[in-house]
Amino acid sequence: MIYKEQVVILMMNIMIVITLLLASSLSVSSSVSSTSKTPMLISNIAVSAIFTFGDSIFDAGNNHFNKNSTAQADFPPYGSSYFHYPTGRFTNGRTVADFISQFIGIPLQKPYLEVQIEAMNGSRKDYPSNGINFASAGSGVLQGTNKDLGVISLQEQLLQFQTLVEQNHIDKTLVQKSFFFFESGSNDIFNYFLPFDPPTLDPDAYVQAMLTQVTKFMDQIYKHGARRIALFSLGPVGCVPARALLPGAPIDRCFGKMNLMVKKYNKGLQSLVNDMPIKYPGVAGVYGAIYDIVQRFRAIPTHYHFSDVSSACCGEGTLGGLVQCGKEGYKLCAKPNEFLFWDYFHPSEHAYKLISKALWAGKKSRIRPLNLKTLANITLTRV
Ligand SMILES: *[C@@H]1O[C@H](CO)[C@@H](O)[C@H](O)[C@H]1NC(C)=O
Ligand SMILES: *[C@@H]1O[C@H](CO)[C@@H](O)[C@H](O)[C@H]1NC(C)=O
Ligand SMILES: *[C@@H]1O[C@H](CO)[C@@H](O)[C@H](O)[C@H]1NC(C)=O
Repeated sequence: MIYKEQVVILMMNIMIVITLLLASSLSVSSSVSSTSKTPMLISNIAVSAIFTFGDSIFDAGNNHFNKNSTAQADFPPYGSSYFHYPTGRFTNGRTVADFISQFIGIPLQKPYLEVQIEAMNGSRKDYPSNGINFASAGSGVLQGTNKDLGVISLQEQLLQFQTLVEQNHIDKTLVQKSFFFFESGSNDIFNYFLPFDPPTLDPDAYVQAMLTQVTKFMDQIYKHGARRIALFSLGPVGCVPARALLPGAPIDRCFGKMNLMVKKYNKGLQSLVNDMPIKYPGVAGVYGAIYDIVQRFRAIPTHYHFSDVSSACCGEGTLGGLVQCGKEGYKLCAKPNEFLFWDYFHPSEHAYKLISKALWAGKKSRIRPLNLKTLANITLTRV
């Protein structure tokens, strides 16, 4: 027995040396280890699960299963271009989490509430091995954002995840190998400009308060074992068709004041990612520059097969931004995937697909310091 173990240990050492040699010859890993104290090794272990947190950009049906919530997209024509029925997703098809799952080759994650209902009514014994989606449309990083819409706050999403880990419903090794996706903050910033309930904080202090919440979230998911973390920047929220609902917002161009806040928040996210190697030993964190990716679509739309990058395909009124898609009086465009915006707030599936491709295999101007394809196959040392 002892002999066998020694042989195994020797073989493991040889493998580590070989992997180290391999790793040092790859530019990706050397660029990581120069900014990180944690050596990262390349292996063929691929990520097999995604845990997703955030708002309507990612919500795959949590609000639909939350009868208390009034922020819904579980009616036609949502989902019509891909699923051919409404799933609760706020677009005409798949979201970024869906595309990345397909690129990895795993099934799409179910919303947490659906999983919970199945576990409660006895139709499910084991929790999914491909991850869970906790995102709730309308939520923000600030606890109070859209509370009146019955949304699940980021803090509650975290508690839901935490409980599953503590109750051993999610395997700890799986957690360490999984992707953690975070995208939230658009609703906090959009709500800052709503005419009722004027904010007490100035824009900078408000953004700082948001970043404090993101930091707390990071601390917690790290504590619970998350190691492959992707923070996605906000898109240019000031360009959404729904800005037509806000008094004083320009129609012929994006809402500059809003985009300024978005950029400050995104900058804060980027520095959170920069600080990860020191602050969270053993973590590989990446920053997805959604803002820049989307601004490129807007700058050269035809290159990306967009015929309209300003108004909503599905909606009504100014920019199609005054009525939610599917609600009374809405109109639907003929070619949804030629539009950047599917509805008043959300990108079309075509936009999500392009974004997903950029995040999966894109260069550093799109996602850094690693793209998701690389992040999926990197082995992290335990700390
Ligand atoms: C990870 O590497 C293995 C072996 O090279 C490969 O088969 C697999 O497709 C890679 N996975 C991803 C997600 O790139
Ligand atoms: C349990 O809940 C799921 C999700 O709502 C549903 O699809 C399924 O039919 C339910 N099963 C039973 C036995 O009630
Ligand atoms: C439902 O939403 C209201 C706010 O509209 C909230 O006060 C209440 O706690 C929510 N209930 C559940 C079960 O989530």
